[in-house]
Amino acid sequence: MDYAGVDGRRTDEAAAGDDEEVVEPPAAFSDRAVASDPELYAAFAEEGPEAWRRAADLLEWERPYETVLDDSDPPFYEWFPDGRLNAAANCVDRHLDERRNQLAIRWFGKRGERRSYTYLDLHREVNALAAGLRELGVEEDDVVTLYLPMIPELPIAMLACARIGAPHNVVFAGLSAEALATRIDAADSEYLVTCDGYYRREDAFNQKSKADNARLRADADLSATVVVDRLGDALDVTLGDGEHEYEALVDAHDGEAVEPVARDATDLLFVMYTSGTTGRPKGVEHATGGYLSHVAWTTRNVLDVRPDDTYWCAADIGWITGHSYGVYGPLSVGTTTLLYEGSPDYPDRDRVWDLIERNAVSVFYTSPTAIRSFMKWGAEYPEAHDLSSIRLLGTVGESITPKAWRWYREHVGGGEAPIVDTWWQTETGAISLATLPGVTPMKPGKVGPPLPGIDARVVDEDGEPVDPGEPGYLTIAAPWPGMLRGLREGDERYRREYWLEGEDGWRYRTGDGATVDEDGYVTILGRVDDVINVRTHRFNTAELESAIVGCDGVTEAAVVGDDDGRIVAYVTTRGDVDPDGSLREEIGERLARAVGDVARPDRIVFTPDLPKTRSGKIMRRLLEDIARGDEFGDVSALRNPEVVGEIESTVRSE
Ligand code: WTA
Repeated sequence: MDYAGVDGRRTDEAAAGDDEEVVEPPAAFSDRAVASDPELYAAFAEEGPEAWRRAADLLEWERPYETVLDDSDPPFYEWFPDGRLNAAANCVDRHLDERRNQLAIRWFGKRGERRSYTYLDLHREVNALAAGLRELGVEEDDVVTLYLPMIPELPIAMLACARIGAPHNVVFAGLSAEALATRIDAADSEYLVTCDGYYRREDAFNQKSKADNARLRADADLSATVVVDRLGDALDVTLGDGEHEYEALVDAHDGEAVEPVARDATDLLFVMYTSGTTGRPKGVEHATGGYLSHVAWTTRNVLDVRPDDTYWCAADIGWITGHSYGVYGPLSVGTTTLLYEGSPDYPDRDRVWDLIERNAVSVFYTSPTAIRSFMKWGAEYPEAHDLSSIRLLGTVGESITPKAWRWYREHVGGGEAPIVDTWWQTETGAISLATLPGVTPMKPGKVGPPLPGIDARVVDEDGEPVDPGEPGYLTIAAPWPGMLRGLREGDERYRREYWLEGEDGWRYRTGDGATVDEDGYVTILGRVDDVINVRTHRFNTAELESAIVGCDGVTEAAVVGDDDGRIVAYVTTRGDVDPDGSLREEIGERLARAVGDVARPDRIVFTPDLPKTRSGKIMRRLLEDIARGDEFGDVSALRNPEVVGEIESTVRSE
């Protein structure tokens, strides 16, 4: 394990100026919370994996499982291996008896459009699309790539795939043609669902041309492409061979019933590409039974969601948070979920509060990045709205500062609502560390203890638990149901990327540094590998840096994220290159092409050299400190300490 990244810096920062505040769960909340029994922790500890029956039993099984966990071949764990179920049936069909006319999805488009789907509507359209996909040749286990923005057709397509046992491979709509092509090839996917385009603020943006471009680049030949008409007259696209209009396909199969395919619990539900320790994204595979059980359990017990809630997870479905808590979680527990296409400041900075008020949203889940923007814009925006419907708030994706935590509670949660700071990853599938909001006291800035049944430990380089307050590595010492079942890239890669075998068994490495306090509350210090999280997008630094180095004249590059979730690129060039020429623009273009617009650096700092250790490793952590304007330690042991002052003054003067 590369332990080089953990230091005490963020710990001190987290502790500084914050005499630890402990916030008890409000009685009014605890009294009716889904998880209200403090004994849950002890029960999970005593029962071991068997305790997770509580999660699996929230689902409807086509064939009941008997075995909870097969751990005979670690680290290849199988959850509920002899059970069979269908994820779409669990998210749609089983709610029909009790709440067919209840809203399942309320969608708000960027132009003020609205669409609502009851569970019955959802059932009808999922069935029609499932039948349509079958007609186009999609069979069980065929991977279908979905390249769609935040429109109802995205969750509908996910569920249609799940219904026929075809794993989906959702690619975030903002990624580039090149990134899409790589993911189509890597997933061996022959089918694509995309759209004509979507609005980005004022402009109609052509998504189909990106998809066409990807199709040309991909090695694979797509057998069929389905195209949603999002923009109507605003953008005309012509469909070629093998391309089908979504609306026509669904109309042609309207009213047809497609029997949900009973999948083994260990069968693939979806693959999601994410950045890891090396340049190329990895295909994280999630199994049907364990994933859905864990997601449903946490939606109820951590987010406290019930059918009569109106729930809103503001994350994009193109990433894991949107999969687990925008689609599978809320629909598996039968609630009403909000889907919003726009950005939080369009058309106005009160858009989020307007939607909460308009829909009486009771549970709201977002990221610290968003909360920071809300704070910057000012409390007058939430204050102009009636947010009294809010019962619980959640955050995910990065650490939230105690200050932001308090702002969120005060101005959005009416000073009362509990906040769950939830830690998890694409690979963990579902929330893994968080408080149980009706049971566990909160500590602003700390995610909380591991959930019942999650054996998370903060350890040192030898795998020994660290002392309270000491930085270490966050690991998980026992399997959990939502865990990835493997990587698309194969078993060896899976083992190498995530697992360490120690004397007391296998340990999953999260890639995060952390501390733990006397009460077992974990504070996340950030990634210790080459992954950066910016504005809820997860990138590998090498993935971005290799694109930059591909620009003519660039010799080296180092990419970091700063406090405001911006991407900062430090770049060295050949002597004869004028960095004030077109290079800045070229670097931006290059990244947009290789990864997507989301990867354009917000700042490019040209420097004569990058700080390196004597062994030649770029000191990214130091560059991150400089970008954030933080203090940093002694640099005299570097190979080139003189460059640090120079970089610092360039950064300050810009
Ligand atoms: C970070 C997102 C601090 C962490 C669900 C993790 C967090 C990475 C938190 C996974 C949190 C997630 N506090 N850091 N509450 N939640 N992270 O795969 O570094 O996009 O490893 O999954 O986000 O990012 P991913």
